[in-house]
Amino acid sequence: MNDNKYNRNAMLEYWNKEQTASMYDKYLLATEISLIKRFLEPHSKILDAGCGEGEGTMEYAGVNNVDIDAVDFSETRLQMAKKRLEDRENVRLKQVDFLQEYKLGDDYDYIISQRFLINLTRWELQQKVLRDFKNMLKPGGTLLMLEGSVDGVNELNRFRSSLNMEPIPVKWHNLFFRDDQLENYMMDIGFQLNEKTGLGSYFLLTRGLRPFFDNDLNWNCQFNRLASEPALTDAFDMGEKYSRLKLWVFKNLH
Ligand SMILES: C[S@@+](CC[C@H](N)C(=O)[O-])C[C@H]1O[C@@H](n2cnc3c(N)ncnc32)[C@H](O)[C@@H]1O
Repeated sequence: MNDNKYNRNAMLEYWNKEQTASMYDKYLLATEISLIKRFLEPHSKILDAGCGEGEGTMEYAGVNNVDIDAVDFSETRLQMAKKRLEDRENVRLKQVDFLQEYKLGDDYDYIISQRFLINLTRWELQQKVLRDFKNMLKPGGTLLMLEGSVDGVNELNRFRSSLNMEPIPVKWHNLFFRDDQLENYMMDIGFQLNEKTGLGSYFLLTRGLRPFFDNDLNWNCQFNRLASEPALTDAFDMGEKYSRLKLWVFKNLH
C-alpha cells in the first residue's frame, strides 16, 4: 500500500506484458461482473474505464441497448479486448491514459471502474480521476466503483490472524481506498453514496477458510466455483464484510 510513488513506466510495462492477467481468479471476476451488471439499466451510455481485456465489457455490452466506450492505456490489454469484443458493435475501444491529455464524452449514464483506480498509486491521482469521472457523468448518472478497500483487507486479515494465517498484502501496483476518506471526498465533490456492498462471502470462504485446510494456491478449483455460486453468496449474505473489493455506487448529484 504505497501512497507516495507512482511510476507510469513500471505500471505500463506491467500491464503490457502478455502474461499479466487483469484478474487471475476467474470465479471472483465472474462474481464481480454479475454484481456490477445488476446496477446497469438498458438504453444507457457507459464508460468502462480501465477495461483491461474486456472481460467485464463483454458482459455489460449484453445489457439491452447499451452503448459502451471501453478505454485503457495499455496496447496489449486493448488488443486482447479487441479480439474478445470483435462481434460487439455497441462497444468502441479507445486508448486513453487518464493521467495524460484525453478526450471522452460528458454525458455518460454510468462509469464503471472495476479495479482500475487502485492502479493509480497515489491518493491525489485517484482524486484527480474521480473529479474527471464527475465531469463525464450526466447529472443523476452513476459511478460504479468496484475497487480495493483497506478496511476490507484489514477485516479479512484479522480473521486470518485469528486462525494463525499470515495477512494477505496489497500488491505493489495497487493503492486501496480507505472507506471513510473516499466516501467523504466523494460527498465533497458532489456525489451521493447510494449503495455499498461487496463480495464478503466469496472472500471469507476462499481467502479466510479454504487456505486453512489447503495451502495450495489454485484459483481454478471446485471450491472457488462453489463459493461463487449465487445460492452460496445469497445464503451467507455478507455484503461488504471481509470483502477486499467493495462496490461503491455513487450518484452524481449535479
Ligand atoms: C486490474 S485491471 C482491470 C481490468 C478490467 N477493468 C477488469 O476488471 O478486468 C486494471 C486496468 O487498468 C489499466 N490502467 C492502469 N492505469 C491506467 C491509466 N492511467 N489509464 C488508463 N488505464 C489504466 C490497466 O492497463 C489495466 O488494464
